[in-house]
Amino acid sequence: MVIRKSTVSSPRIALGAMRIAGMTQEQADRYLSTALECGLNYFDHADIYGGGQSERIFGETVKRLGIAREKLVIQSKCGIVPGKMYDLSKEHILESADGILERLQTDYLDLLLLHRPDALMEPEEVAEAFDILEETGKVRAFGVSNMDPGQIELLKKYVEQPIVVNQMQFSLTNASMVTEGINVNIEGHDRGLVRDGGILNYCRRNDITIQAWSPLQFGMFAGTFLGHPDFPELNGEIDLLAEKYGLTPEGIAVAWILRHPADMQVVVGTTNPERIQNMARAQKVKISREDWYRLYMAAGNQLP
Ligand SMILES: NC(=O)c1ccc[n+]([C@@H]2O[C@H](COP(=O)([O-])OP(=O)(O)OC[C@H]3O[C@@H](n4cnc5c(N)ncnc54)[C@H](OP(=O)(O)O)[C@@H]3O)[C@@H](O)[C@H]2O)c1
Repeated sequence: MVIRKSTVSSPRIALGAMRIAGMTQEQADRYLSTALECGLNYFDHADIYGGGQSERIFGETVKRLGIAREKLVIQSKCGIVPGKMYDLSKEHILESADGILERLQTDYLDLLLLHRPDALMEPEEVAEAFDILEETGKVRAFGVSNMDPGQIELLKKYVEQPIVVNQMQFSLTNASMVTEGINVNIEGHDRGLVRDGGILNYCRRNDITIQAWSPLQFGMFAGTFLGHPDFPELNGEIDLLAEKYGLTPEGIAVAWILRHPADMQVVVGTTNPERIQNMARAQKVKISREDWYRLYMAAGNQLP
């Protein structure tokens, strides 16, 4: 059970739908069928992906292929009003959830996540919205994204439902969640700086599943580090280990995240059926401790 504290049963890899908005019917059919053939039935959406088009395409594809709703785990996120503000008010959460359900053509979401912290969030209002969504059967479980322990604790003071997921950026090249722990109390550089309030240990202590978003990207959507000329050492190491473990480079990048004992779920954003298959295979591979550290250092990280 990857999502602890919930009844949701899920694979260790979730498919992120952020990039599917431009798909043709044929591409969408292949995307969804390939995922399900690989046992990947967990899908991550957000109301803003493709301006709503990602959810729309997904809902239409599920209908067209005649896939039973209970075969899928569908999660979406709300709270971002692009370019304008973050909005975790009760009204916005409720309105957003209704829009999501309509676009996805479903009666319920398995999970709804608060997409980003809203500086003006009133946790009492979030609690009211969650109660309504739960009582009306529209949402079965709740989570957050990009939140630190203090923000989650503040929510928990009012919200009755368990927070079961926190979606965070984590990859070989965006590894500050582990780097801060490796460099505790070391002076002379900022690698020991805690930017997230110690979220990794907090989530582990509280059985909140970390979902790692953008597992193959460097920076903030700057591109994939796989095959990128700025990361020769990392790619060299990835290629060697791909050979050793019988995976492709993207499989190794995913296996590196899965190897962490926090039991994270990886949210992969590929739209390519072959890459879906390659990454699904990583679920069965446990890379060694030594190889985990080799990759970490090849990505430019240092051990004190
Ligand atoms: N909570 C949040 O704030 C947040 C933020 C961002 C994303 N997310 C979630 O995380 C999911 C994943 O994010 P992401 O799409 O940025 O993740 P990603 O899996 O790191 O990146 C996917 C992108 O990399 C490309 N790619 C993968 N392997 C490649 C290779 N070997 N060579 C060249 N290109 C390659 C893919 O192209 P192809 O499609 O051609 O494979 C796709 O464009 C999103 O869909 C969304 O659900 C959440």
